[in-house]
Amino acid sequence: MAVSVDRILRWKQTGTPAQPITVLTAWDVMSGQIVDQAGADIVLVGDSLAMVALGYDTTLPLTTEDMLICAKAVRRGVKNALLVVDLPFLSYQTSVEDAIRAAGQMLKEAGAQAVKLEGGHEGMVETVRRLVQWGIPIMGHVGLTPQSINQFGGFRKQGKTEAEADRILAEAKALEQAGAFSIVLEHIPVELARDITKALRIPTIGIGAGVHCDGQVLVTADVLGLSAWQPPFAKVYANLRQQAVEAAQQFCTEVRSGQYPA
Ligand code: KIV
Ligand code: NA
Repeated sequence: MAVSVDRILRWKQTGTPAQPITVLTAWDVMSGQIVDQAGADIVLVGDSLAMVALGYDTTLPLTTEDMLICAKAVRRGVKNALLVVDLPFLSYQTSVEDAIRAAGQMLKEAGAQAVKLEGGHEGMVETVRRLVQWGIPIMGHVGLTPQSINQFGGFRKQGKTEAEADRILAEAKALEQAGAFSIVLEHIPVELARDITKALRIPTIGIGAGVHCDGQVLVTADVLGLSAWQPPFAKVYANLRQQAVEAAQQFCTEVRSGQYPA
């Protein structure tokens, strides 16, 4: 049975199945097919694709049009998992109307079942409330929010001071109150992620946030060893970049030597 937002909510509220939620990213039809076939519960078209697939240094340059192209491609490859799409930087921060339009496009044009947006300050909480009112399921994202990289001055762990930790916990609670169905906790101390997970009725999905979250997410290019660089908290399960280079080298060698075609 295909995964729904309702199922993700009930997962935590009923404690069944008694196992963490699995989330992997995708950026095109092949990566979508691979993670869906692998049985991930949620496929996230993360704006990390700006770096992974488009070669930018940050997620900031990604446009709504870029995201729509990638999300549509992933949609064609995902049959079972819940499909969640990130809203690109500045497609939703400018006004509630802009947020509804951008999120609506992801649902209408790309067939997303939910969207994810970053931040839990007052303005964003109001935006989440309005999106949920219009029937658009929202995944929140607090802690290290990469769209604010210029403010953080690097991909650094967040919530290390008590004041910061209190703020992040308050943001997570406010997002739940506004109607978010789940929330990503990125690169925060394990104890803070545990406290947030205990305080919320909606599932927390951790990345670099320790074992106590209700689910885990990684960028699939990191999991597969395809990305040129992986963050320290990513676990690399295969070395596909190296294997791909070797396969391509083999082709070149065989063509040059007359071994292929036979
Ligand atoms: O863009 C992304 O891939 C993400 C996940 C890492 C949570 O937001
Ligand atoms: Na993202």
